[in-house]
Amino acid sequence: MAMRPYIVGNWKMNGTRAMLSEARAIDRGAERLVKVEVALAPPFTLIHATRKEAALIGVGAQDCHAAEGGAHTGDISAAMIKDAGAGFTIVGHSERRANHGEKDADVRAKAEAVLAAGMAVIVCVGETEDQRDAGKAESVVARQLRGSLPQGDNAGEKVTVAYEPVWAIGTGRTPTVEEVGAMHRSIRAVLKDLYGEETGGKVRILYGGSVKPENAVELLGADEVNGALVGGASLTAESFLGIVVAAA
Ligand code: G3P
Repeated sequence: MAMRPYIVGNWKMNGTRAMLSEARAIDRGAERLVKVEVALAPPFTLIHATRKEAALIGVGAQDCHAAEGGAHTGDISAAMIKDAGAGFTIVGHSERRANHGEKDADVRAKAEAVLAAGMAVIVCVGETEDQRDAGKAESVVARQLRGSLPQGDNAGEKVTVAYEPVWAIGTGRTPTVEEVGAMHRSIRAVLKDLYGEETGGKVRILYGGSVKPENAVELLGADEVNGALVGGASLTAESFLGIVVAAA
């Protein structure tokens, strides 16, 4: 049976309370589109308000610290995020890996902290352009998965994977449908190896990188694509709902 598509908006470092009107509009639009699971990951500062304003969609965070608490000035723990009303947290986004030096082991520690706090986790992976040009895209992503995905009892049940080729993020460029399908099939094989045939077969694999209403039908139709992680096009209800409609 086909999985219910999952469309997640990652607002990155965008949004003040003025943007809550977009979250409300997304929530209202999503109400009519029950075939699709919709969620938003606003900045930390808007999680609580988004949860209150948008009752139907999922609300999550974009990152967390791996520790439960303590002397980590400026950081936010998974339990704090959950307390603010979030149901999931994204970890391992390539902007965190590149801008904050996060390695696979850091990403895994964060993913396990998210699960321990009782939330679901979206783990991001993806190759750079050089790695793709060198023919290493699938091996790089497989290595990231094996190093970053959470381990432990039932870990695979609360995991979503987001495949985001670094060179496609915010650039307007995307892989071909065949390239996306090949990568997602390869990710599925790794997930089955790590979590077993049944659980690994049920983990949702999202595509992310320049998804827009205009290309969403095509990208979402690629093999083993179970949804999308959307950056720029999630910042207005109009474009984000255009993608949600394409997924329905
Ligand atoms: O996490 C979403 C992302 O990195 C893709 O961003 O702006 O290319 O949709 P964008």
